[in-house]
Amino acid sequence: MSGSRENNLKNIDVNFPLGCMTLVTGVSGSGKSTLVKKILYPALQREKGIFNDKPGQFDTIKAPFEKISSIEFVDQNPIGRSSRSNPVTYIKAYDEIRSLFAKQTLAKNRGYQAKHFSFNVDGGRCDHCKGDGNTTIEMQFMADVVLQCEHCMGKRFKKEVLEVEFGGLSLDQLLEMSVDDAIDFFEKENQTKMVQKLKPLQEVGLGYVALGQPSTTLSGGEAQRIKLASFIGRGITHDKIIFIFDEPTTGLHFHDINKLLRSFNALIDQGHTVIVVEHNLDLIKCADHLIDLGPEGGKNGGSVVAMGTPEEVSKVKDSFTGQYLKEKLGN
Ligand SMILES: Nc1ncnc2c1ncn2[C@@H]1O[C@H](COP(=O)(O)OP(=O)(O)OP(=O)(O)O)[C@@H](O)[C@H]1O
Ligand SMILES: [Mg+2]
Ligand SMILES: [Zn+2]
Repeated sequence: MSGSRENNLKNIDVNFPLGCMTLVTGVSGSGKSTLVKKILYPALQREKGIFNDKPGQFDTIKAPFEKISSIEFVDQNPIGRSSRSNPVTYIKAYDEIRSLFAKQTLAKNRGYQAKHFSFNVDGGRCDHCKGDGNTTIEMQFMADVVLQCEHCMGKRFKKEVLEVEFGGLSLDQLLEMSVDDAIDFFEKENQTKMVQKLKPLQEVGLGYVALGQPSTTLSGGEAQRIKLASFIGRGITHDKIIFIFDEPTTGLHFHDINKLLRSFNALIDQGHTVIVVEHNLDLIKCADHLIDLGPEGGKNGGSVVAMGTPEEVSKVKDSFTGQYLKEKLGN
């Protein structure tokens, strides 16, 4: 396959096994992101009849694609543009929360339905900010100014709607709770379904995030982990997916890296395949399969230096990753 050369990848052959974790390694500039984003992802999409960007140059990619239903590139782009979208709306736990409030006696007496507890339709949300909690003033020649809505004081709902309580909490109080606290709260209230829905967020290391934190304020890494949590939350289905991550551990604390690794294993246990671009050497020894690019960055990179199990890669003298593994594996 030919095309204009926009990167340093030579025509390459890669393969990876399904149902386990493959790591793409190599020094900075060796072509890791290019391989997963510009070649693997579009090429695999094509195998599934989805035509997007033309894949870059490659010779062959070997894997039994007929066993795969889709490919997901889990990037760090925001989970939504509106401040009305947040972690619980993204993982589809918000419907449950709305119905819970609608079931309370006060809500029933006043004739409130689930929609009255929604940000997205008129009725219960603040009419002034339309459930945003903020209003934006467009400034000429300057960046827009965002102010807290003075009608609801940033609480997003009408005062009378917030009078409805579940377990002693109003809707806005619940939305301000962290995932960890909310799990404890729902456990106490015997809301097993809510606990189950929130667990994946905790598992990917997002226990500290507020249920209703606007998606526009989440970091790239947080957005990426919310996407991961939503896939874990689907549980075991017939769909077998290849998940691709580009440097998901950047900036993560050691403790959270372990959580992320457990989440990858959860996906693998559900029968999925995980491909991760990774610098982190701790992760390298946990991989089932490696694709090591190099030997250097830029023009002197772009080739597959080593490929196979950590054991096999450790025998390749020209591979930096191989040398590291050799020490670690002690052979
Ligand atoms: N669109 C492009 N135009 C020109 N050069 C490019 C383009 N995309 C990538 N490159 C070059 O190709 C090489 C590989 O880039 P790539 O982003 O794949 O590296 P990487 O292995 O992911 O590095 P890092 O670990 O720093 O993320 C680099 O030298 C980069 O400058
Ligand atoms: Mg990169
Ligand atoms: Zn308002």
